[in-house]
Amino acid sequence: MPELKWWQKALFYQIYPRSFADGNGDGIGDFKGMLEKLDYLAALGIDAIWLSPHFPSPNWDWGYDISDYTAVAPEYGSLRDFEAFLYEAHARSMHVILDLVLNHTSDEHAWFLESRSSRDNPKADWYVWVDTPPNNWQSCFDGEAWTYAPERGQHYYHYFMKQQPDLNWRNPQVKEAMWSAARFWLELGVDGFRLDAIGTIYEDPQLTPHTVPLDLAELRRAADLAKTPQEKEKVAGYWVDMFKHQLNQPGLHDLMKELRSVLDEYDGDRMLVGEDDNPDFMGNGHDELNLVFNFPLMRSEGPLTPAWIRSNQAARLAILANISPQAWPCNTLGNHDCSRAYTRYADGIHDAERARLSLALMLTLKGTPFLYYGEEIGMQDYLIEDPSLLRDTMATWYYERMLNELKVAAAEAARSAALMTRDKNRTPMQWANQPNAGFSPARVVPWLPVNPNYAQGVSVAEQHQDPTSLLSFYQRLIQVRRSTPALIAGDYQALHEHSNEYLAFLRSTPGQTVLVILNFSQKPQVLDFSQLPFETAHLLFSSAGRGQKEEGLQHIHLGGFEVYIAELR
Ligand code: GLC
Repeated sequence: MPELKWWQKALFYQIYPRSFADGNGDGIGDFKGMLEKLDYLAALGIDAIWLSPHFPSPNWDWGYDISDYTAVAPEYGSLRDFEAFLYEAHARSMHVILDLVLNHTSDEHAWFLESRSSRDNPKADWYVWVDTPPNNWQSCFDGEAWTYAPERGQHYYHYFMKQQPDLNWRNPQVKEAMWSAARFWLELGVDGFRLDAIGTIYEDPQLTPHTVPLDLAELRRAADLAKTPQEKEKVAGYWVDMFKHQLNQPGLHDLMKELRSVLDEYDGDRMLVGEDDNPDFMGNGHDELNLVFNFPLMRSEGPLTPAWIRSNQAARLAILANISPQAWPCNTLGNHDCSRAYTRYADGIHDAERARLSLALMLTLKGTPFLYYGEEIGMQDYLIEDPSLLRDTMATWYYERMLNELKVAAAEAARSAALMTRDKNRTPMQWANQPNAGFSPARVVPWLPVNPNYAQGVSVAEQHQDPTSLLSFYQRLIQVRRSTPALIAGDYQALHEHSNEYLAFLRSTPGQTVLVILNFSQKPQVLDFSQLPFETAHLLFSSAGRGQKEEGLQHIHLGGFEVYIAELR
């Protein structure tokens, strides 16, 4: 296999600590629980873990509002528990990356408390302060982007909730403080960071107002009501216009270079992956971020189709090739901010088949795959229709606005909040067909409701025992990926580009060529690959029971929704 870095070969698994495993039985996930599940992850074939924030936080944004960057949230355990987790992950050859939130802190962080306390304290300039709101900028979570602080008689800027004040990254002391927090974890041995919301770090210095004739609540409502493609396009355009002066401003690349050089002080190929899809963040291939996510792939209207995937790959791989021959793709279909892949790609009839195809796609496309916890058992969105159970403040804020300002009927507002909230895709991991899905003891109420479909087979324990389950399918496919160099390192070449029923492509290294066919249709196919310069296909994996392990390339028969992988010789 060509020399690749660990993060190019790894299959990543995102853990949302609050919802993964509740080791002490208080309804909230924790390090004790995560540690106990490391063997599960190792057996599944996971190589690296991305941990969503585990730092102390007042939880206005469930950990993405950090009040201390160099400690562990008490509800998750102690620093010692973290160290034990890291040690045990490394002992199982798994890497661990943390979530680094650069743009903002919690309003309870000591830096902000000091900054807010007066206009002339040592940290007075660590956040973005103004006398009066200079423009109509919105926060993408709770409306007005400027909030008044009576302590200093001034307003501060926040792109997210008002409890998440933006740091002033033009102040060198802010950088030094944050880099030293990063070093704290690098010294403990973490393998890198996922960088939160990097596009939001700088704002337009001219403070140019936006020109959208709506406020945030009205825009969200317009998005809810948009039905035709024209209406949807208009809303999407408004969304871009509303925030364009608050996003992607000059300075970001220099900042990412600085952070890169902080990581390069340490041995062992520490890595950075940005929560962004702009490949420019990869710099010249080694002076900024190692990876950015291929978010465009997951943003299809409705289920994934071969044509969508093909055009995404063509565009994406071409951009990366322009950056540097080493620029590496990174694919994902889900995370804690979006509807679960299973639900998004469902058509109501072949949901399970489509879930298999999307998992298989992640493991066979070129690039580092990121899996979101629970995808391996087909966890689905769980709509929380009772607004009093919502925990995502972005949704509770919108719900209140719908009721009180937009005068939306209560039932309709509840429905709309249930659909837009991120709670639906953050419900507790379903470990077993037991009360609370085995996440917490039966007597406890978990922090978010558990999806009751754990009783219909969506659980680790039941799928573990069933060789036909999604989990077993996925586990087998991971093993095939691990033992097939071309599936990890190989180039991608699309085949049969006319078809919108199946996706066929080659992955090839100098020593190995593998044919992957994903049949996205229920229709069986008979496919001819005899124009390729190979004689036979040696089966490596199939989701169907195939008798024949070796066949010619002229008539490859494929079942409906089959996942087929063969080495060509
Ligand atoms: C990122 C996180 C999201 C969070 C936001 C503010 O987009 O993924 O969960 O709410 O940043 O930190």
